[in-house]
Amino acid sequence: MSPSAVRVPIIGGTGDLGFGLAVRWSLAGVAVTIGSRSAERARTAAARVRELVPDAGVEGVENVDAAGAGDVVVLAVPFAAQLSTLGAIASALSPGTILVDCAVPLATAVGGRPTEVLGLWRGSAAEQAQAAVPAGVTVVGALHSVSAAVLADLGQPLDEDVLLCGRRRADKGRVARLLQLIPGLRPVNAGTLDAARSAEQLTALLISINGRYKTHAGIRILRLPEDDHWAEELATG
Ligand SMILES: NC(=O)c1ccc[n+]([C@@H]2O[C@H](COP(=O)([O-])OP(=O)(O)OC[C@H]3O[C@@H](n4cnc5c(N)ncnc54)[C@H](OP(=O)(O)O)[C@@H]3O)[C@@H](O)[C@H]2O)c1
Repeated sequence: MSPSAVRVPIIGGTGDLGFGLAVRWSLAGVAVTIGSRSAERARTAAARVRELVPDAGVEGVENVDAAGAGDVVVLAVPFAAQLSTLGAIASALSPGTILVDCAVPLATAVGGRPTEVLGLWRGSAAEQAQAAVPAGVTVVGALHSVSAAVLADLGQPLDEDVLLCGRRRADKGRVARLLQLIPGLRPVNAGTLDAARSAEQLTALLISINGRYKTHAGIRILRLPEDDHWAEELATG
């Protein structure tokens, strides 16, 4: 995949995770559309990206306009804002769009601890998102274990895995190709969308580890084959 041929919309791209992703993709030559509830905040975030990556092809617009700007849309808003945000952008999500949901349902959403995860009726935030998107839009849960602080710090090399959870192998393949454009991120096929239950829980564990070691921990799965199997996933259509 040629980086210059892609534009990635990031809903909530003014926030920690979305901004970090915007910076890393911009550095890789990928065009990014930062979405926000406020066009002005989105433009300010885009200007911040350009301060770090002067030739970035980044723009900032309102969430609903960002949502229509690419085929793979990253949703990077707090869990508590997931459903309302999906409602606000639904009209712009056309059939065939892949929504990458990063939400971790931390108990902080209801005043609880960041090391605990809420039990959800749908099983996981990603499954909740799938139930809320328009027909023909599919959700891939991803990026739960990647630290926003590390992404935004260009002095820190990335060297970690990203678990991808989704119904269709081809969808995970398309998301994997986007993630592979960021040096140091290795996408791993973690299974169907319900596997997001485990992937999301893992973040609470990492937050607990972060508190003890004063770091921004990530994950690495050992003993995976080194071949690039994503072409096969993409070929499943
Ligand atoms: N931070 C991390 O290291 C990290 C790592 C992995 C996964 N995640 C997950 O990624 C998602 C984003 O995390 P984050 O730390 O980037 O979040 P954040 O900085 O708190 O928020 C991201 C953006 O969401 C929008 N937002 C905030 N509250 C909202 C509300 N009530 N309604 C609608 N939009 C709202 C804001 O954008 P505007 O005000 O501009 O609209 C904000 O800039 C979360 O679900 C989190 O669990 C985070």
